[in-house]
Amino acid sequence: MALPENFIYELKQNNPIDTFVSSYAVLKRSGRNYACLCPFHSEKSPSCVVYTESQSFYCFGCGAGGDVITFTMKIENLSYIEAVKFLADRAGMQMPDEAKNNDFSRLKARVLEINRTAARFFHDTLTRSPEGEKGRRYFAERQLTPATIVKYGLGYAPDDWHRLHYFLRDKGYSDDELVTANLCTRSQKGAVFDSFRDRVIFPIIDLRGNVVAFGGRIIDGSGPKYLNSSDTPVFKKSRNLFSLNFAKKSEERRLILAEGYMDVISINQAGFENVVATLGTALTPEQARLMKQYADEIIISYDSDGPGQAATHKAINLLSEAGAETRIIKMEGAKDPDEYIKKFGAARFRQLLDRSDGAIDFELRKCASGLDLDTEQGKITYLRRCVKLLADISSPIEREVYISRLAKENGVNREMLIQQVNGLIKQNIRTADKEEQRAVQTFSVQRRANPDSTAHPKEFKAERGIIAYLAANPDELPYIESRLTPELFVTDFNRRVYEKLAEKLKNTVEFDIMSLQSEFSADEMGKITEIVVTGRNVDINRSALDDYINILEEYKNKNIKVGALSDDDFLDYFENLKRSK
Ligand code: CTP
Ligand code: MN
Repeated sequence: MALPENFIYELKQNNPIDTFVSSYAVLKRSGRNYACLCPFHSEKSPSCVVYTESQSFYCFGCGAGGDVITFTMKIENLSYIEAVKFLADRAGMQMPDEAKNNDFSRLKARVLEINRTAARFFHDTLTRSPEGEKGRRYFAERQLTPATIVKYGLGYAPDDWHRLHYFLRDKGYSDDELVTANLCTRSQKGAVFDSFRDRVIFPIIDLRGNVVAFGGRIIDGSGPKYLNSSDTPVFKKSRNLFSLNFAKKSEERRLILAEGYMDVISINQAGFENVVATLGTALTPEQARLMKQYADEIIISYDSDGPGQAATHKAINLLSEAGAETRIIKMEGAKDPDEYIKKFGAARFRQLLDRSDGAIDFELRKCASGLDLDTEQGKITYLRRCVKLLADISSPIEREVYISRLAKENGVNREMLIQQVNGLIKQNIRTADKEEQRAVQTFSVQRRANPDSTAHPKEFKAERGIIAYLAANPDELPYIESRLTPELFVTDFNRRVYEKLAEKLKNTVEFDIMSLQSEFSADEMGKITEIVVTGRNVDINRSALDDYINILEEYKNKNIKVGALSDDDFLDYFENLKRSK
């Protein structure tokens, strides 16, 4: 779908690529531009460049490239129109009307309406109906105040197969819509019934205040402890966080990450607004990045049991990849924050937060797990693990501090530890370099394996030169058109790029090569950006352009079978031959 040019222009103005990319990667200034570790492939030294002037990016390692819209499509895994919408939301812009009225948007709006109505139904059932007594008793036992129940919009789903189903059907929603919203389930035989029955309900609210999904906890009886909505047109588990709608309002730039709904609610009720949890899954990279947008420091408050600690380890890695500092609470005497607050109170929980460990302390402590440090073998294994950990710390000062401490605590020579750590760092760098080289090689092999470029290397290069020249000198279109038609292009992709480019140039006021975005896939945009970026480096002039065009003409002349031409083409052919001499 074509969106108005000025809308896209304004959208990009409001979402500068450097600011936008910096919420996904750490940008380092490099001249007028920025460099960063590419968020689209794994690497240890930065090969992704963000160009401020052309508001584009290109990764020399993996070939990803394009503008802020391409970047959004790739990193958030969205279609073109969804990416535009994402950026519009972010900038507080209204989408143009024609984009709003497609079927998918209509369905989304319906599902949101259904969710809101259902949330109200569950809440009313909990707070007002006789059968809600069971839920009321449950929450009272868990010491939730009425104010908390209202704040979180908690509810109760009656022990009935069709209560919500019929309630919503009477309001005009179809069975299909209810199943799409995940509030009803369709059996194999086609019967439709309520998904949540006899459970207390936790509505999931997104950042805009929409009810996007539900979690339902069992009260007694059998079945899974929690039921969560699966993904729907308005909900993706992997990119939402429970209670972020409240946490985002906190001024702290610090978030508490807990494991469960109940932990979040009790921590919040204890006076900490800045707490969130994932939705029945392990933390995802998307969620880590989302958290980093609201906080620089994240305190992980997972359960104190084995799985909780293993999850902590994974979360530390994801959060630090997202550029956030992590701290970890050390909880003793309770299995989770909910229980801790009930046993020891909010003030003690605050102390727990304030005394939380840095991520490295947490990891160092974990190095000792399963080992008997009183034996020599135990101690050696422990120190080996620690050295491995310390070699991964990027700040030399920080490394020093931990090495000194480790040496002192274990009565080993400090110099020896330093040597060990430095040796490992060197080795790590070597391995990383090798891996990167391999990645870049694989990539260029793939690029060389492009059938077009192998079959016609000279023409392929010429075509790219012409496109790069035109992108840099849009005023030259009339000249280029006087000398070539798209048919002269030998390779299909480049021809398509040239055609679209020429078309855009004629129809837009403020030309920008990245506006080709609406016509090409994100991967294709990577190739187009590569053409532009490499072209910029060699600085093509008019005479180079003429050479390129000649190459394409020669190719055509060589490959034409004269007898197969119509009379007109025959004449053209000789005209061309004369001209190219
Ligand atoms: N979870 C889930 N499905 C389950 C168990 C757990 O989706 N069968 C998710 C829920 O999001 C839950 C979180 O994992 O909130 C943590 O699980 P757990 O510690 O068991 O639940 P709590 O929220 O702490 O609930 P409670 O205190 O009532 O046990
Ligand atoms: Mn728990």
